[in-house]
Amino acid sequence: MKDAVSIERHGDVVVLVIDNPPINAGSAAVRRGLLDGIELLGRDDALAAAVIIGAGNTFVAGSDLKEFGQPLEHPQLPAVIAAIENCGKPVVAALDRAALGGGFELALGCDARVATARVVVGLPEVTLGIIPGAGGTQRLPRIVGVPRAIRMICSGERLSGQAAFKAGLVNEIATGELLAAAIAYARRLNGAKSPLRTVTLPSTDPAEVEAASRDALRAGKKRPAVVAAIEAVSSAASLPIDEALARERAAFESLRLSREAHALRYQFFAEREAARHPRLKGVAARPVARIAVIGAGTMGSGIAIAALDGGYDVLLLEQDQAALERCVARIAEHYRGRVEAGRLDAARADASLARLESSIDWNRVATADLVIEAVYEDLAVKQDVFRRLDHLARPGAVLATNTSYLDLDAIANVTSRPQDVVGLHFFSPAHVMKLLEVVSGAATAPDVLATALDVGKRLRKVPVLAGNAFGFIGNRIYSAYRKQCEFMIEEGAYPEQVDAALEAFGFAMGPFAVADLSGLDIAWRMRQNTAASRDPAHRYVRIPDMLCETGRLGRKTGGGYYAYDPEGRRTVDPEVRRLIDEASAARGITRRVLDEHEIRRRAVLAMMNEAALLLAEGVAQRPGDVDVVLTNGYGFPRWEGGVVFHARQRGHEALARDLDWLGKLSGPGFVRGELRYLLD
Ligand code: NAI
Repeated sequence: MKDAVSIERHGDVVVLVIDNPPINAGSAAVRRGLLDGIELLGRDDALAAAVIIGAGNTFVAGSDLKEFGQPLEHPQLPAVIAAIENCGKPVVAALDRAALGGGFELALGCDARVATARVVVGLPEVTLGIIPGAGGTQRLPRIVGVPRAIRMICSGERLSGQAAFKAGLVNEIATGELLAAAIAYARRLNGAKSPLRTVTLPSTDPAEVEAASRDALRAGKKRPAVVAAIEAVSSAASLPIDEALARERAAFESLRLSREAHALRYQFFAEREAARHPRLKGVAARPVARIAVIGAGTMGSGIAIAALDGGYDVLLLEQDQAALERCVARIAEHYRGRVEAGRLDAARADASLARLESSIDWNRVATADLVIEAVYEDLAVKQDVFRRLDHLARPGAVLATNTSYLDLDAIANVTSRPQDVVGLHFFSPAHVMKLLEVVSGAATAPDVLATALDVGKRLRKVPVLAGNAFGFIGNRIYSAYRKQCEFMIEEGAYPEQVDAALEAFGFAMGPFAVADLSGLDIAWRMRQNTAASRDPAHRYVRIPDMLCETGRLGRKTGGGYYAYDPEGRRTVDPEVRRLIDEASAARGITRRVLDEHEIRRRAVLAMMNEAALLLAEGVAQRPGDVDVVLTNGYGFPRWEGGVVFHARQRGHEALARDLDWLGKLSGPGFVRGELRYLLD
């Protein structure tokens, strides 16, 4: 086996090359190798300095997360950094591609940092429910000050090479070859050590610290890792560094074993897995450079922006010239907004817009490698579009539909090439939401699925493979969840209580607030369309229909489950309460109080039950996929892991009791999930 760190001599400079592919993650072997190299530097009089660099372009993109769930092996990172600080000779970190988490802490533990312009640096630990545990909370503020360090660490902000150079985190941007620049820099230090631990903190206005902490707590929903990070960074100003480092390490140690960190690590791995498919291993994706988006409405404009951001050439096609122009104006406005907010430079915005072509001439579709249809949700309309695409698109082009509910095969089968047809279900707003359900039809070719996953990754989405069934994965689960919440308001809770309980759990918005926002009429129409096939033995809550019948279709009509004040804040409407009471009475239900605990438990169990069904039916392929869908598309709190994560924590026996209980409360037909699919 190759050494995780190889040692090369370049005259009086020893170069320690970290070689732990694919991302040079910090591991016990890497730490041991570094320690050996630093010991050599200390004892060999022929050596004046060291450079630490990563093999294969990346410095160290993070730590091996698998290590974090168990006792950490020695030597640990703080010991490596202490050895660097104490070795008596300068050590320079040469950073390329990624220096993140423990990798950036290692770099901050060196005497200087030389980087390429394309490097990304940052301390994203908080997004994994922990804090930097090897001095990041102490060394970072010694360069950027306490307030900025709080903001950076609590948000997991990543800086590019230039931004890091401007902030003083990087001492030099290499213009030529990185290793040569780092060696030259190390020689120029002429033996001088300058560890960050000896740097005096930039003085800070306490009001700035206070403001940074307040913002971070709000954005981070007061999660334990955010609270601990603020405390650790702030202690840089009040405690001697060794005491502050010891406290940082203790906080890191206790957080890494917390349920929250466990859930976030689980999510991290589930997301990584979701984009990989054993079935598609070795299947080459078709090349895609140009994407046509058909239908320039809400979704079409978001998809076009996502595609432009992903570096694709985009062709926007419409039937309606005015709708097309409105959409192009919306896209231009979007880029202008990002430039004005300082989030994108003007040249890049212009370059993106220059890659956008818009047209009502459908012959242009022949230039596209991938077509994404986002016209009205109507089977006949979509079938008509696909007939035309079949006629006009070039052979081998991938034809995708963004349908939310329609049968993919019914769309694919109007073409002569159903093997090229796939579902690409984006979420609104499509340039923001991470989730992308990649739906496989009966005939979809493996290389078309591979292409869809590939494009999804380039669009910076989290793609999840789903089978072709009504509502795919996400909307099916969401519908079971909403149904259970409707049961609860029929039994005795009111919408604001259900929403408050689920928002306290971590959802950004409860289901009734969401329904008001998206409009109650879409689901109403769907219920009318499927009324004939509904099993009369199954429980059916009339409340949403009653609201729609009185014209309460949500925010757009001034109210739905809630009334809205002039500022748009939701308020309780006595009329809605009366209507709900009436609906319960009509069913002969004596209303009772449901506490927050019951509301959350039932909501989560309803989703779990549906997840088990989807897995049994093969609509979802792997348990983790379900959780990736819920957290990236439906606002399920990441730090809760997802419903499969919950099920596994609960265990078989308790879960069987839970579902039995849910079944009794929900009536016939609701609980049908098979537990083994969640627990295997
Ligand atoms: P929309 O009504 O905002 O936009 C549809 C656009 O398609 C309109 O600009 C219309 O002029 C154009 N169009 C209609 N028929 C056309 C045709 N034959 N040829 C070319 N253009 C045509 O609709 P929205 O909300 O963007 O939805 C589009 C699709 O995306 C639907 O299938 C919907 O179910 C799906 N979807 C919608 C989501 C949402 O939150 N709005 C979320 C996920 C999927």
